[in-house]
Amino acid sequence: MNLRDLHEKARRSLDPVHYDYVAGGAGEERVVADNERAFDRYALLPRVLCGGERRDTAADLPGAPGASPVFVAPTAFHRLLHPGGEPATARAAAAEGAVLVTGTASTTPVAEVVAAARSRDREAAVWFQLTAHPRREATRALVRRAEEAGCTALVVTVDSPVFGRHTRDLRNGFTDLPPGHAAENMRDLPGAPPGALTDIPMSPAVSWADVDDLVRRTALPVLLKGILHPADARLAVEHGAAGVLVSNHGGRQSDAVPAALDCLPAVADAVAGRVPVLLDGGVRRGSDVAVALALGARAVGVGRPAVWGLAAEGEAGVRRVLAALRDEYDHTLALCGGRRNSDLTRDMVVRKGGTW
Ligand code: FNR
Repeated sequence: MNLRDLHEKARRSLDPVHYDYVAGGAGEERVVADNERAFDRYALLPRVLCGGERRDTAADLPGAPGASPVFVAPTAFHRLLHPGGEPATARAAAAEGAVLVTGTASTTPVAEVVAAARSRDREAAVWFQLTAHPRREATRALVRRAEEAGCTALVVTVDSPVFGRHTRDLRNGFTDLPPGHAAENMRDLPGAPPGALTDIPMSPAVSWADVDDLVRRTALPVLLKGILHPADARLAVEHGAAGVLVSNHGGRQSDAVPAALDCLPAVADAVAGRVPVLLDGGVRRGSDVAVALALGARAVGVGRPAVWGLAAEGEAGVRRVLAALRDEYDHTLALCGGRRNSDLTRDMVVRKGGTW
């Protein structure tokens, strides 16, 4: 069973409105489609006679040494999609040695998510995705919750000054979590006005000063998620970011941006090795992982594929997704004559149709 089959199984098992919530994106969903298509525009040019019996695919990431090169990108509301919720995702990621980026919009409190991961692997790395609250005091409280829970890095989402307009959700009237579900990390936040726990407030006034404040106040590495412009990648490093995640939010924010993959080389050049560069968006096969690593990523995230695994088969489904991608990636690395991730270099990626 491959990832496509799990996607199909998830589609059949989910309420169609919830399926659309996950599958959909902003506007005409041009970016959703382009993120995947971008990988089809490249081919891998292998090297020969330089491989080894064993390959080392571990990636050293902030707060996660020796992790799988495939991590679980933050996605909201797992209990809506499977009763096992975020704890099931966390156990699966930990069992596969993959970093889980758990979200501000989790339907399980972050402390329980980390505990679930550590029940599988005492060393499991869980990162906390932070959506900065319009009130700084509330943001600081969220950070404290993540620190106390034992998260090993913060991933600040910077591509969401306003909420994306998800066409399918608007058409389906899906604007609130159904009764019985809540964004648990948002409960009783100091400084936040009491209100519904069904959406995550955002602010277009969040700025580099907020990044400075965060970096100053936490001992955790701070990564910025949603960087596309190389100038912002440079600023991120200057403001103390420990990593840059090239992402267009899976096509759920602007429908006018380039595919995430197409932004990667320029960001990698701007960062120039000072901090790790990560990527998410459209990764569906092991060879996609290889292309992204060759173009400068240290690791790649999967959003929807992990959710399809969860919805289809709970913890076991997420494990299958992560194991399949890691296994396919390892196989691709062998076919490219590589022994380790850094053996994949930019000269080994060519535009299809040939550029020489
Ligand atoms: C997301 N994503 C996301 N990102 C984020 O920073 N905070 C969030 O709360 C969410 N929530 C969310 C929900 C759902 C249902 C999806 C599909 C995505 C974006 C996510 O982290 C990631 O950037 C993309 O999903 C990557 O693209 P793929 O792998 O889905 O193609």
